[in-house]
Amino acid sequence: MPIGARNAVALFRAAWIHRQMHTVIAIDGPAASGKSSVARMLAKKIGFLYVNSGAMYRAVTWLVTNRGISATDAGRVLGLLDVTKFECGTANNQSTILIDGVDPEPHLTDAAVNANVSAIASIPEVRRILVDRQRQFAETNDLVMEGRDIGSVVFPDTPYKFYVDASPEVRAARRAKQGLADTIAERDKVDTTRRTSPLVIAEDAHVIESSYLTIDGVVGEIIGRLKLKGLALPEGV
Ligand code: CDP
Repeated sequence: MPIGARNAVALFRAAWIHRQMHTVIAIDGPAASGKSSVARMLAKKIGFLYVNSGAMYRAVTWLVTNRGISATDAGRVLGLLDVTKFECGTANNQSTILIDGVDPEPHLTDAAVNANVSAIASIPEVRRILVDRQRQFAETNDLVMEGRDIGSVVFPDTPYKFYVDASPEVRAARRAKQGLADTIAERDKVDTTRRTSPLVIAEDAHVIESSYLTIDGVVGEIIGRLKLKGLALPEGV
């Protein structure tokens, strides 16, 4: 790793160590690996806040494409972000986001968002802004956060890291079953090869191959692992 990049990682870590106060369970994995369903169910079972970091990148992508700006034009994307108000909050134990007062939720899986989100997520400054917001959630809540770089970059020091995987065929079938047009293979390629915070398996992450597991099965495996690590969970879980 070049020295500049190593310094940046060290700075990120230092900033995080000073601010993180609550328990964070990090769940990373490639597109359509089932991590959203798993993270949502896990959070509900153990009473933690559920944060979908991908929704934040999708919300920015919706804003950008909606304004007719190219996702690869980093200058104009950042110019737009400069004049846009992002409000991150919580409701019903889930994270929420408002963009200039508008809830982008109904548009987050639009084909245009699927097609452009990886390009937006590869802009380092966009990542810096969103990672900062993601860390803020841990200042006030115990949380389950899912994404691509949660265990590797956003919360590198949490002891609770999981990487949920599934074969490309199973993942494509899962997305098709949802009736969504998605460019999974394309997104995987951009997500794993980008320079800033690419999708990687954090060294200390527990990998779960979910191709032949139910959501319940994956959540059960995670809970078993959390107990082994000594995390106190609500009675009956
Ligand atoms: O749910 P799905 O696997 O389709 O993806 P997502 O979690 O909604 O994330 C959408 C896109 O946002 C990914 O393909 C990444 O390009 C980007 N992303 C990221 O770069 N870092 C994250 N922590 C989360 C998402």
